[in-house]
Amino acid sequence: MSGADEHEIDPDEVRAGVRDHWERAAPGWRESSGRFNATAMDVAQWLVDAIRPQPGMRVLELAAGIGETGFLAAELIEPGGVLVSTDGAEAMLEQARGRAQELGLRNVEFKPVDIEWIDAQTAEFDAVLCRFGYMFALDREAAFRETRRVLRPGGRVAFATWTAFERNPWSRITRTALYDAGLTDTLEILRPNPFDLSTPEIVTALLEDTGFDEVRTAEIEVGFPYEGVIDLFTQTKTLSPAFADLVRDLDARQLTDLQERLTEKTAPYTQPDGSFTLPGVALVASAQA
Ligand SMILES: C[S@@+](CC[C@H](N)C(=O)[O-])C[C@H]1O[C@@H](n2cnc3c(N)ncnc32)[C@H](O)[C@@H]1O
Repeated sequence: MSGADEHEIDPDEVRAGVRDHWERAAPGWRESSGRFNATAMDVAQWLVDAIRPQPGMRVLELAAGIGETGFLAAELIEPGGVLVSTDGAEAMLEQARGRAQELGLRNVEFKPVDIEWIDAQTAEFDAVLCRFGYMFALDREAAFRETRRVLRPGGRVAFATWTAFERNPWSRITRTALYDAGLTDTLEILRPNPFDLSTPEIVTALLEDTGFDEVRTAEIEVGFPYEGVIDLFTQTKTLSPAFADLVRDLDARQLTDLQERLTEKTAPYTQPDGSFTLPGVALVASAQA
C-alpha cells in the first residue's frame, strides 16, 4: 500500500467493513464448514499440538469462526479445562455455539472479542489459538501485544496465516478470473489482506517485536477439492459475500464468460472426470509469551 493510500483510509470504516463481511459470511461458513475443515485439518492439528494441551488448561481461541480448531483442543483439556471461543462477528459466534452443541461439548464458553482489543484479563490464559485470523487485524502489532498480555508467562500462542497470494491458487484463480472478466478493476487486495502475513520473516519479526520468544514456523500444503467449475462457483458464492455480490446480477453471457475463464484457469489441475483440487500453502507459527 502506498503512503498516500495510508492517509486516505479511515480505520474505523475499514474495520466496520471487515466486520460486516464476516457477519454476512457466517451462515455460508457453517454450511461449508465440513469441507473447509477437511482441507484445513492438518493446520488445526499442528496448532493444537503446538499449544501442548493438558487437562485443566484455559485456552482462548481468537477469530474462531465456526470454532472447529478450538473444539479439537477442548476435548484434550478435560477434565477441568475451559476453552473460550471468540470471534469479532456475532453471527459467527452463533454458528459456533450451534456446532459445539452438535458435538456435545460442555467446557466451551463463547464471547464476542475483537482481536485488536482482547476483552480478557492479563495472564488469564495458558494458550491462544488462531487459525486464519490475525491477517484481518488492521493493527497487527496491537493484536499480538494483546495476545501476549492475556497469556500467562510461558503460555503459548499458535496460529495460521496464508503464504503469498501467488502460492495459493485456491484464491488466485477466482480473483484473476473476476479481474480478467472485467468484474473487478484491480488485483490488489486492500488491507486487511489474507496474504499479508505471508513469510516466516514477517511473522517472526512481529512476534519478537511484541515480546514473544521460542518462535517456530512451518509451511503446510493444503488442497481444496471441487467436483468441477460449477461447484467452485457455488462454493465461492457460499463462503464469500463479496464474490456473491459481484456475480449476483450477471446476465447469461457474463456468467458463461466467467465460467469459461474459471475452466481455463483450473485446467492444469483438472482430472478426466472434471474434478480438481486447488492447492494452497498455509504458514503456521507458535511462540512463547
Ligand atoms: C478466514 S475466517 C477463519 C475462521 C476460523 N478460524 C477457521 O479457521 O475456520 C476469519 C475469521 O476472523 C474473524 N475476524 C475478522 N476480523 C476480526 C477481528 N478484528 N476480531 C476478531 N475476529 C475477527 C471473522 O469473523 C472470521 O470468523
